[in-house]
Amino acid sequence: MDDIMLSQERPTVAEYIDLRRRAGWGTIDEATAARTLAASAFSVCLRRDATLVGFARVIGDGVLYFFLADLIVDPSFRGGGHGDRLMRAVTDYYRQAAKPGAMIALIALKGREAFYERFGYVRCPDGPFGDGMHFAAAPSPVAS
Ligand SMILES: CC(C)(COP(=O)(O)OP(=O)(O)OC[C@H]1O[C@@H](n2cnc3c(N)ncnc32)[C@H](O)[C@@H]1OP(=O)(O)O)[C@@H](O)C(=O)NCCC(=O)NCCS
Repeated sequence: MDDIMLSQERPTVAEYIDLRRRAGWGTIDEATAARTLAASAFSVCLRRDATLVGFARVIGDGVLYFFLADLIVDPSFRGGGHGDRLMRAVTDYYRQAAKPGAMIALIALKGREAFYERFGYVRCPDGPFGDGMHFAAAPSPVAS
């Protein structure tokens, strides 16, 4: 893992489009990628040499509302602790940025909840929170 460097930076538009596609999340256009990356409150990249092999980022206002927007490790690098490294960086960011009363949210893919529990995230319903919800009419991803 030593040759994989972590940096708090945004990937390029081309790198982001490509990593999403490699993860099977479909294809997005350059304008969409540029706009969503620009809205990031926090980004962290993993690179081997110059190549992007992992990425996580948070969308939010940086004080009260935070949403984990991406957590992606290149398929050929999975199972090596890289997802763990990205989530620890994101969680450290939350610890220093979130103000009292903050809402820090993510929606895990089905079956992936246990991955997040190890970092202190809990399943809903919990405390005052009901089940998580999403808008079912959002457009579907475009196949790669
Ligand atoms: C999820 C993802 C980022 C994990 O990356 P990774 O580099 O393979 O994860 P790690 O090697 O750091 O795994 C860390 C630990 O979590 C565990 N883990 C990994 N994937 C898991 C899963 N789907 N469910 C539960 N635990 C999981 C690993 O076994 C490992 O445990 P260990 O340290 O006891 O061996 C990667 O699989 C990925 O990019 N998936 C596609 C995109 C995606 O689904 N993102 C998350 C959306 S909810």
